[in-house]
Amino acid sequence: MIDPVPSLFNTPIIRKTMEKHTLNNILFYDSGIGGVSVLRLAQRTLPKENFIYYGDSKNAPYGERSADEVCRLVLENVAGLVARLCPKAIVIACNTATSAAIGELRSRYPNLIVIGMEPALKPAVKAYPGGNIAVLATPITIREEKFRTLCGQYYNEANIIPIECAGLMDFAERGEFNSPELQTYLNIKLDGALCGGLSAVVLGCTHYAFLAEAISQAAREAEIFDGGDGTVRELVKRLTEKDLFVSEGTGSVAFLNSLNDEEKNEQAKKLCFE
Ligand code: DGL
Repeated sequence: MIDPVPSLFNTPIIRKTMEKHTLNNILFYDSGIGGVSVLRLAQRTLPKENFIYYGDSKNAPYGERSADEVCRLVLENVAGLVARLCPKAIVIACNTATSAAIGELRSRYPNLIVIGMEPALKPAVKAYPGGNIAVLATPITIREEKFRTLCGQYYNEANIIPIECAGLMDFAERGEFNSPELQTYLNIKLDGALCGGLSAVVLGCTHYAFLAEAISQAAREAEIFDGGDGTVRELVKRLTEKDLFVSEGTGSVAFLNSLNDEEKNEQAKKLCFE
């Protein structure tokens, strides 16, 4: 088996972390820090669980690669992580990776809980029937079949406006959550959609949750919908069904990154607990 992340597991800190976590952990996966926006909700909901967060910063951004390439990266990385960590559940906290690889992951790991992300279009349409609803996401997410199928379910109920946002995740990666450059980027992206008045904006990428304030400003106070809550609800439901909840002990969160970059791990940790 290809082992894309061997050096990550050879430091004393990670070895110690693994001893503690192995067999009873929940793996969160993203291309970078975006999935921390989902992890932090999960950690607050399930504080006694042991979470391991993996960001594939070496290969980010995923959204501007081809879907096949992203699928290959996710499958390789997850195979290495599952072999090493034996998680009880995997949360693909990335809409792009979900679009490209969730089907294949589910068939490769039929005995594990495997959860993906979905843009929160359903609650947005229910809240604003007949409204103009923008969905911001990476080029892959917008173009892949999963999103087209989702839009197909609601195209009669609202005016759905998909907006490809290549480059937007980089603002979040840089910790640039509100800057004139970000505001200009968003104003340009939302300009056309704002003409007819915008009811809601769906965040179709986990990185964008960190940019929600700036997005709300550019969207002139249209309501923001994020899929993180729904994903955590699904995780709780699946753990309950399989009776895999941890209800005792202290719980923990460990951070890994394919660049083996301590600064990235610190950034993720800060975002998780602030
Ligand atoms: N966080 C990821 C998502 O939810 C994508 C960012 C990227 O392009 O890597 O889609």
